[in-house]
Amino acid sequence: MQNSDAMPAGSAPDPTNQRAYRDALGRYATGVVVVTAREADGGGPLAITVNSFASVSLEPPLVLWSAARASVRHAHFTKATAFAVHVLGADQADLAARFSRNGTDFSGLSFTLNEFGVPLLPDALARFECATETLYEGGDHTIILGRVSRFAEGRKGAPLVFAQGRYGQISSS
Ligand SMILES: Cc1cc2nc3c(=O)[nH]c(=O)nc-3n(C[C@H](O)[C@H](O)[C@H](O)COP(=O)(O)O)c2cc1C
Repeated sequence: MQNSDAMPAGSAPDPTNQRAYRDALGRYATGVVVVTAREADGGGPLAITVNSFASVSLEPPLVLWSAARASVRHAHFTKATAFAVHVLGADQADLAARFSRNGTDFSGLSFTLNEFGVPLLPDALARFECATETLYEGGDHTIILGRVSRFAEGRKGAPLVFAQGRYGQISSS
């Protein structure tokens, strides 16, 4: 059977087809989280918008996310001994955009600090406070594995979704 949308044989990823490679990866829909930590060397609150978050293990409770080595925030997050992950709701694309642009702009946001100085945002679908367990080399990213020390479910609502370069939400049929 012929199908004009049939999957082609495929290409090896290389520098000439990086856009196409990224587009193919972008077909995979993810949730969106904001990861927070305290800046290195006793600095202030820091945040970053992330879609590489994943649960790794239930027992022990381990999660991961990947930090781009090119990011000015990379050194802070890889030095941090604790961090928190906030799962965003569908109505929080503005918060995702804010912490994608700038990691230190907490203006107008209410937050508290946990015992490790990690900023905790009260408005999220769920939150995971973590202790940094292990860092792994991951090419142009560093994989940050964390052990969850505390978790909480927040308000109910649809999750914010990211796919094909755009924010969206799950529509129920
Ligand atoms: C939806 C979305 C997901 C992202 N996921 C990641 C991620 O998993 N890891 C990462 O290091 N940066 C990620 N970023 C990029 C950062 O949020 C931020 O834009 C980047 O760190 C900016 O560079 P700077 O830290 O040098 O200012 C993502 C951005 C968006 C909008």
